[in-house]
Amino acid sequence: MTVVNVAVLGASGWMGKTHTMAYQTFPHFFGESGGTARVAALVVSNPDAAKDLAFRAPGAKILTDWKEAIADPEIDLIDICLPDSLHYEVAKAALLAGKHVFCEKPLADTAAQARELADIAREKGVITRVGHAFPRNPVHDLAKEIIDSGEIGEITMFKGCQHIDIYGDPMAPYMWRANGDLAPTGIVGDTGTHVFSFMEFLVGKVSSLIADNYIITDKRPILDGLGYGDGAPALTGKEDWGDITNPDGTNIICTFANGARGLVDFSRTATGRKFIQTYEIYGTKGSLAYTYDEVNRLRFYSNDDKVGRRGYREIDVGPEHETFRNFLPLPNFALGYNESKIIEVAEVIKSITTNQPMWPTFETGHHICQIVDACMESSDAKRWIDIA
Ligand SMILES: NC(=O)c1ccc[n+]([C@@H]2O[C@H](COP(=O)([O-])OP(=O)(O)OC[C@H]3O[C@@H](n4cnc5c(N)ncnc54)[C@H](O)[C@@H]3O)[C@@H](O)[C@H]2O)c1
Repeated sequence: MTVVNVAVLGASGWMGKTHTMAYQTFPHFFGESGGTARVAALVVSNPDAAKDLAFRAPGAKILTDWKEAIADPEIDLIDICLPDSLHYEVAKAALLAGKHVFCEKPLADTAAQARELADIAREKGVITRVGHAFPRNPVHDLAKEIIDSGEIGEITMFKGCQHIDIYGDPMAPYMWRANGDLAPTGIVGDTGTHVFSFMEFLVGKVSSLIADNYIITDKRPILDGLGYGDGAPALTGKEDWGDITNPDGTNIICTFANGARGLVDFSRTATGRKFIQTYEIYGTKGSLAYTYDEVNRLRFYSNDDKVGRRGYREIDVGPEHETFRNFLPLPNFALGYNESKIIEVAEVIKSITTNQPMWPTFETGHHICQIVDACMESSDAKRWIDIA
């Protein structure tokens, strides 16, 4: 059995915790035949976090400089769970050192950076993965199977959205995600790239788009200890205020290379929508509809059904799909967010140990960054942008 030694960077944050959990958990569900992982190093910016981390990955080195993890010959895989603007620099250094790299989304700040990373990875012959885990829920494998088999015909339209309300309240606290230096593309690189990952997985490449990025609230109170998902507390009047320098939301019209059209929107200011993620895909023979509220359910409409019996049928993905069966013996017991991260990590380790292809790699990350670039350019220039 091959053991892959992993360094998790940004280990005390949300994704750092989730990835650390996933490396330790996936063999329970996927077995050890595809290799296993040892979290050998946890990299944090704040050494005080070390006390809290020691029990999460017993024996792991606790480091405060990501360069130490990259220089460590024991480490095979660098797992980047850092704020967006660090992804490119850290991933590049790791690739040049010959490490496999798993990087959270967005892969980079620009498509040019993402292209460079994908090229270095190819030259070095290492495994790459970008953290678009949502489409790895087996319900989307079913959607892809239906599309690829031609059951809904030619795709004519993709409608997708992802909304959260962390910034619905204008007084909700400032965080790195709203800082254009740390997250240059804001919600486009954040929530937007999740929708783009569904587009890429299920429909194909986007060829042109017009986008309208917007900022709803331009300043927010900086409150120590408060961040993502924290509500607005009573203010004292003595707070410092941070400028919001990246988009809160975006509306997009797009075309795909295969001729399909798209209508997409996403935001972090959708008051009341704690988390919504949906898509509808219309084809010439049928259609598909999905909502995260019913995370393992796909709605499928087919013109092949008898007239008078047509309507959306609800398919609950279950143990007939191997990935689902690895977790649960019964349908509708629901695989959620953390399971999709466990699936993701299992695929990364298997790809490293067996060289088996997987999705999404840095090549996909590059396509998705091209869409992000086009949104930023289109919104600034107020015009359609072609994507090569
Ligand atoms: N795939 C998904 O569903 C998903 C969900 C959330 C976040 N993300 C992505 O994951 C990344 C991390 O997001 P998060 O929600 O975990 O953020 P977070 O703020 O919870 O965690 C980031 C961590 O990085 C640490 N950090 C910052 N600079 C550092 C440095 N130089 N060295 C070491 N540690 C440093 C911070 O102290 C913090 O603990 C982001 O790029 C985000 O877009 C992806």
